Amino acid sequence: MDGTDSTTGSPVDAPTDETFLRTFDGARVLVTGGAGFLGSWVCERLVRAGAHVQCVDSMVTGDAGNVAHLRDHERFRLVEADVTDGIPAEGPLDHVLHLASPASPVHYRRLALETLAVGSTGTRNALDLAEREGARFLLASTSEVYGDPEVHPQPETYRGRVDPVGPRSCYDEAKRFGEALTVAHREQRGTDTAIARIFNTYGPRMAAADGRVVSTLLHQALTGAPMTVAGDGTQTRSLCWAGDTTVGLLRLLASGEAGPVNIGSEDEWRIIDLAELIRELTGSSSPDRLRRPAEGRPGPPAPRPHPRPAAPRLGAADAAAGRAAADDALARVPGGVPGSSWGRPSRLTAAATTSSGVIRSSRSSGSAPCGSPRSPGRPCQSAR
Ligand SMILES: NC(=O)c1ccc[n+]([C@@H]2O[C@H](COP(=O)([O-])OP(=O)(O)OC[C@H]3O[C@@H](n4cnc5c(N)ncnc54)[C@H](O)[C@@H]3O)[C@@H](O)[C@H]2O)c1
Repeated sequence: MDGTDSTTGSPVDAPTDETFLRTFDGARVLVTGGAGFLGSWVCERLVRAGAHVQCVDSMVTGDAGNVAHLRDHERFRLVEADVTDGIPAEGPLDHVLHLASPASPVHYRRLALETLAVGSTGTRNALDLAEREGARFLLASTSEVYGDPEVHPQPETYRGRVDPVGPRSCYDEAKRFGEALTVAHREQRGTDTAIARIFNTYGPRMAAADGRVVSTLLHQALTGAPMTVAGDGTQTRSLCWAGDTTVGLLRLLASGEAGPVNIGSEDEWRIIDLAELIRELTGSSSPDRLRRPAEGRPGPPAPRPHPRPAAPRLGAADAAAGRAAADDALARVPGGVPGSSWGRPSRLTAAATTSSGVIRSSRSSGSAPCGSPRSPGRPCQSAR
């Protein structure tokens, strides 16, 4: 499929990506955190590829509105549950993707204990489910496992530099523990596992006020608020389009690789330039407001410098050169498609899509809980 998705209005990938996604035709997949920003992209791609998708989400930072367009699909089922309490699943399953976790600094600092619980107990529950079902398991880990790195960019072999008692420790250490659990499960129980280390990702359905740089700047630009740029704005970020990250995750899932595998873009943006681009695209007259990084609780921690993957692996920059490098890298990944044309939307298209109102800015009221201990017997939000 090319162009724009008829159900979501999101730009979609090139035909080669659709061909690849047919790997999942008829597969039975459970996605924890599937009603979040990235999870909703994963659920959408899998349903479109012909998979039967069970989305399990507590809605602690997600929103049923993110998957509202899938709700009536016969191959999609939404179950509201906290995966630290156990995972309601209808077997058999071929794949378990564990994306559940608060992911932005604003949320994980507010939900520090919940973040540690879902990274530990939640991950263990998802691994045990995968083992019971003989399913392949994928952990959505993060570039934050590298902490405040001394190595730029970060290859998967770099072990990181993490403060166990710092302002981000609940998230960083939860993910590191989740990775250790995943490796232990693989070695001790023979579970088929994969670890994806996701770098900064942006796209429609990011929550507007969760403190991540693209959504924050867009929200400020669209509302005319001053655009907050930390420090002098020359710090950089690599930003990956959500469609690319999603395809990267699914390619890793289909590959048989254990990882860890970095998934992100090597294309770096100075924050001050990103703010300027967003201002241009939105036609906003929001002023810049430079601010000093603050470490005080409970706000978000100061930005981290240069999280950037060492090489494009499964997601990549959209520039032609970056695309060629990504395709080259993909050709080396089992299950990757050599010479594929990614056909991803340009950054401008993507940013324009969000600026035209696709970005989610308020919570949906349609998130009726189902099948959870808090609301036993309530029907799940699925067509059938
Ligand atoms: N978006 C990024 O740039 C990025 C970068 C690196 C890693 N990741 C990882 O990808 C995953 C998804 O991130 P996101 O950006 O979509 O975040 P998100 O907050 O939008 O989505 C996370 C989802 O998990 C759900 N959840 C949290 N705890 C849960 C629990 N105990 N039980 C059931 N559901 C629970 C939330 O309700 C939410 O729907 C996370 O694991 C995150 O660490 C994301």
